[in-house]
Formats: sequence, structure tokens, C-alpha cells
Amino acid sequence: MKYIVGNWKSHKSLHEAQNWIQAFSSYNLSEYEGKLRIIICPSFPLISLMKDAFQDSSLIYIGAEDISAEPSGTHTGEVSGEILHGLAEYVLIGHSERRSEHDETNQIVADKVQQALFNDIQPIVLVRSPQDTIPDGVVFVAYEPVDAIGTGHAQDISQVVEMKKQLNLPIGTRYLYGGSVHSGNVNTYMSHPDIDGIVPGKASLDPHEFYELIRNSF
Ligand code: PGA
Repeated sequence: MKYIVGNWKSHKSLHEAQNWIQAFSSYNLSEYEGKLRIIICPSFPLISLMKDAFQDSSLIYIGAEDISAEPSGTHTGEVSGEILHGLAEYVLIGHSERRSEHDETNQIVADKVQQALFNDIQPIVLVRSPQDTIPDGVVFVAYEPVDAIGTGHAQDISQVVEMKKQLNLPIGTRYLYGGSVHSGNVNTYMSHPDIDGIVPGKASLDPHEFYELIRNSF
């Protein structure tokens, strides 16, 4: 099984998301069933809309882009694991944008992972290097080198494979790569036996480009 995790980041109004759903739903993806799982991670307000749109799909799943490090309680503005339970099946934790813009430490990442696992949400931990530690129980690890994110300069496949060794992942961990993956370079990563999937940001925003990316993955 290979994984494509679309990270929408802080993009898309309600109207734009509705248009995306309409356009993307017009494509027939049945040939990928059983060999691919597509996980779309929209902003919190769009999760419910996306979940409803794809609830009958065995190919498309919904993830959150973040989760509170705290359980439900008096934490205004926070979205806890209890809230996300039943809405998102996956959650991105420790994206470099959150680590740098919101001072997310390895300890905060570990607390968020705990909240996700406790609420039956599969954490996808994003790391920039082996200094970003991977908490126990994490099955999905995405390597996202900072200089490849949003720059158009994806990291060379040999370095991505080398990083997998350096991360020393437990057997069974799914290893993903993110950073400027698009329909033109996706096959290099998706066809590599050491890489279980990819995390496209920009290339997931346009439904037609995203479909091309999926097609070119195999
Ligand atoms: P990008 O983003 O594909 O736009 O480089 C990837 C990510 O930050 O997850």
C-alpha cells in the first residue's frame, strides 16, 4: 500500500473546497483501490465537509493538520483529540511550519502524538532531521527537509533514502517524503521500494494537478 497525503495548509475557503470536491470527484480512481490510500488534510473548518464528501470512498481518507497537546477543556481555540475523533482518521503532527512558527518542541510533538493515539487518530509525524525525535507508537513518519518545502526544489531521491537509514525507524514504520513533490517528479519517489508515500502541499491544491500526480505515481 502506498500513501499520498495532501497537505492543504492554510488554504481554501469553503467555496474553494466545494469546487475542489466537485472537480476531484469527477475523476474515476477505482483502478487505485487496494494499492493506494489518499489522505487529504484540510484546515479544521473544512474537515466535516470533506468527510461527508468522501465518506463512501475506500480510497480517500481525511486527516487534520494539527491537534491540541491537551485533552478537551478550558483551552480556547484548541482542537482536541476528542473533538477530532470520528472526524479525522489521521493527523499531521510537527510540520516544520508549526515547529518554526509556533515553537513546537519534540515534547509538544510527543504530547500531541499521545492525544492522537488516545483518540484513535493515526499520527503522521513530520521530521526535518534525526534531531526531530519520533515518539513511540508512531507508524507514519514523513521526512520533510526545510529547503525542499514550497521551494520547487525537491530533495534528491538518494538523500531521501539515506535519511530513512539515519532515522533508524522501527520495522513496520511507513516512511513518506514531502517537499516540492508534483506530477512531474512524483514517480521517482512513489516507485522507490524504500518509500511508502508522499506529502504534497502545493500540488494537492489544484484538483487536476493532484489527479495527474496520482496517475503519475504508478
Ligand atoms: P510542498 O509542501 O509540496 O508545497 O513543498 C509540502 C509540505 O509542506 O508538506
